Amino acid sequence: MKIASASENINIEKRVAITPEIAKKYISLGFEVKIQNNYASHLGFDDNLYKELGVTVDQDVSGVYENANIIVQLNLPSAENLSQLKENQSIIGVLDPYTNKENISELIKKKINSFSLELLPRITRAQSMDILSSQANLAGYKAVIESFSHFEKAIPMMMTAAGTIPAAKVLIVGAGVAGLQAIATAKRTGAIVFATDVRSSSKEQVESLGGKFLSVEGAENLETEGGYAKEASDDFKKRQEELLAETLKKIDIVICTALIPGKKAPIIIKEEMIKNMSSGSVIYDLAAVQGGNTALTQVDKVIVKNGVKIMGETNILNRLPTSASNLYAKNIFNFVLNLYDKENKKININLEDEIIQKTLIK
Ligand code: NAI
Repeated sequence: MKIASASENINIEKRVAITPEIAKKYISLGFEVKIQNNYASHLGFDDNLYKELGVTVDQDVSGVYENANIIVQLNLPSAENLSQLKENQSIIGVLDPYTNKENISELIKKKINSFSLELLPRITRAQSMDILSSQANLAGYKAVIESFSHFEKAIPMMMTAAGTIPAAKVLIVGAGVAGLQAIATAKRTGAIVFATDVRSSSKEQVESLGGKFLSVEGAENLETEGGYAKEASDDFKKRQEELLAETLKKIDIVICTALIPGKKAPIIIKEEMIKNMSSGSVIYDLAAVQGGNTALTQVDKVIVKNGVKIMGETNILNRLPTSASNLYAKNIFNFVLNLYDKENKKININLEDEIIQKTLIK
């Protein structure tokens, strides 16, 4: 069994799909591992480190992909790199099939098995492979750290001989995986934390982390059977707007994480609300790429409106690529393990397995 990974375009992606720790695990399973040169040197893992573990390093993509049974990546490779793939090879990554329709249909035509891990079902057995959770968790943490670094006051309450500094008030909009980690991180630094969500089940989770849950009065639970959020009605949006307009006047930092699968992110924080916030407040919008949860978010820019800073990035995980790679590579390894038939030493695409069936793009 041969597993391979080519270098990502490090201008946009600093994570890698095979860390040295995981390369060791593949090799101990009897896999041959091949990577492209300078694969993870930007993370401090140089080629020699991989070579010492028994990994083969090749100069170019065609050499890396040649004869590989499984190719593991982060993003869908460029069309040029994809053209190197051959029938019966399998590619695993975050392939974003809705955006990359053309390239993916080429892969299907060429009978290349394409597995996209953002399609993984949120079932218990799939938790160890859940890249959405592992990466959202880190994103939630880092969004808090980023917002704090732009905030020009201290976060915890401090009582000193020179006077008292009040604790910062933080609001988390959307208490899913990223939001819950943002609550935990903000709490640990001594902030007073509030959170809101459209799913009623999130109230208990917010409270168990020490956050105060802000409920939209009279709202129904907007949770789908799969555990995701449904789009809110106009009536709900109006009530939520009233609640947040008042709350935001007293909030120092907002972390936005609200998403609805397959849809543009809901605009929850309107321009008028931002105008009413105190100068010096900070909003970090993790939904920026999906359109943003505020009316003013612009990807990769810090917008300043009446002294309020609003920011969001294309890929916040590039700010902690080593931690993100460690978890991502482990998720992929667990997925490969589920796909691998140990006895016959080959990939077994068992469509009766929900994990395989749902992630295979057809
Ligand atoms: P997500 O990234 O799709 O959305 C983030 C959060 O935004 C969600 O909590 C959502 O309810 C909330 N949201 C959407 N619209 C909103 C609005 N208008 N106002 C306020 N909040 C809004 O969600 P994520 O983090 O992927 O989690 C989705 C679900 O999956 C959760 O129920 C989570 O507990 C569950 N889950 C289950 C796992 C499992 O293995 N069983 C693993 C990971 C997550």
